[in-house]
Amino acid sequence: MYLTREEERIFNGECGWANEICMKILTRLGDLYGAKKLIPISSAHVSGVSYKTLGDAPVEFLRALADAGAKVKVKTTLNPQSLDAEHLTKRLPKTLAQKQLRILEQFKRMGTKESLTCTPYYLERPKRGSQLAWAESSAVVYANSVLGAWTNREGGPSALAAAIMGKTADHGMHRDENRQPNLIVNVETRLQNETEFGALGIHLGKMLGDSIPIIRSLGKTSPDRLKQLSAALATTGMTNMFYCGIGSETKGIEKISVEAKDLKRTIKELSTGSCEKCDLVFIGCPHCSLAEMKQIAQMVKGKKIKRGTEFWVCTSSHIKETARDCVKEIERSGGQVLAGVCTVVSWTEKLGIETIMTNSAKTAYYAPTLSKAETVLCPMKDCLRTAFQG
Ligand code: F3S
Repeated sequence: MYLTREEERIFNGECGWANEICMKILTRLGDLYGAKKLIPISSAHVSGVSYKTLGDAPVEFLRALADAGAKVKVKTTLNPQSLDAEHLTKRLPKTLAQKQLRILEQFKRMGTKESLTCTPYYLERPKRGSQLAWAESSAVVYANSVLGAWTNREGGPSALAAAIMGKTADHGMHRDENRQPNLIVNVETRLQNETEFGALGIHLGKMLGDSIPIIRSLGKTSPDRLKQLSAALATTGMTNMFYCGIGSETKGIEKISVEAKDLKRTIKELSTGSCEKCDLVFIGCPHCSLAEMKQIAQMVKGKKIKRGTEFWVCTSSHIKETARDCVKEIERSGGQVLAGVCTVVSWTEKLGIETIMTNSAKTAYYAPTLSKAETVLCPMKDCLRTAFQG
């Protein structure tokens, strides 16, 4: 890789250990993927924030970086953590909260925003064509496909290294030639709700490898439905981008079809539990948008949650703050709005939660292994019907 004189100085350790190690992470990856140079980025998004998934060892690395004076050079947001101060901290062992806090402290020392969300684009929408180094796979697919920004699927360490350098290696999704569609997906059924968009993503993710599809006949889309599709595609596959509807030149491109029965089967496979046993109804994977908060508030208005069922809505503190009236409505109904938390990387199993009902295909995919829970996957309106009517 070509390095400027300044980059070379950093690489050679003339600007301190923390900068050297970050530069080495970026150049090693760049060499591996055939990048010729580093390019500036406008923002970074770092994953690996939850203590549940991170564990103890990486915290020492974060501390060492912070001790050595590492500071982010661009706006840097963080993925969700494992618990929130308002609801879960009180219900979980104190040591877990302390260890989680220790991780957040290290990031704070390096200058990251305490955003704690997998939807950083609601805090600030990246400009079309801007180069990013984002590490949350659902946000990566959404950024490339819906927002028109350019980012590879970074890992936690490479996103942090990019944040500290303000640069990333110029390869993959940062290059126009790698963003061209190479497969057409004809959806042969009319998608009815956000859960079917998620199921489509889970189904396609398994078939696509790292192809970039044009997905045709998606029917009525909305940013929230495309968010479910993005999250699910990234769950089972390496696709970092899709196009909706018609592409420009599609002659000679391979075509595949998805039928109603594929989606039905996917939803069935992701539903391992039964509605009657469900003890947690969960909406907010990826974190809820303002529109979703409004929709939930409207649907629960005047209702009361069923005894023995918890209702969680996860979002960022930014959206929670913006949607204060909706939060009140949800809380009046007996639900809880958790800010900055990912249910899948929290300790629901320690709270005695055995069956999770959700509208998110990504949660339904991960919950059996990460949360040791049975799952019921269905659209938000059915989730709420179960939570509020029994
Ligand atoms: Fe976000 Fe957690 Fe889902 S990080 S995308 S809420 S699995």
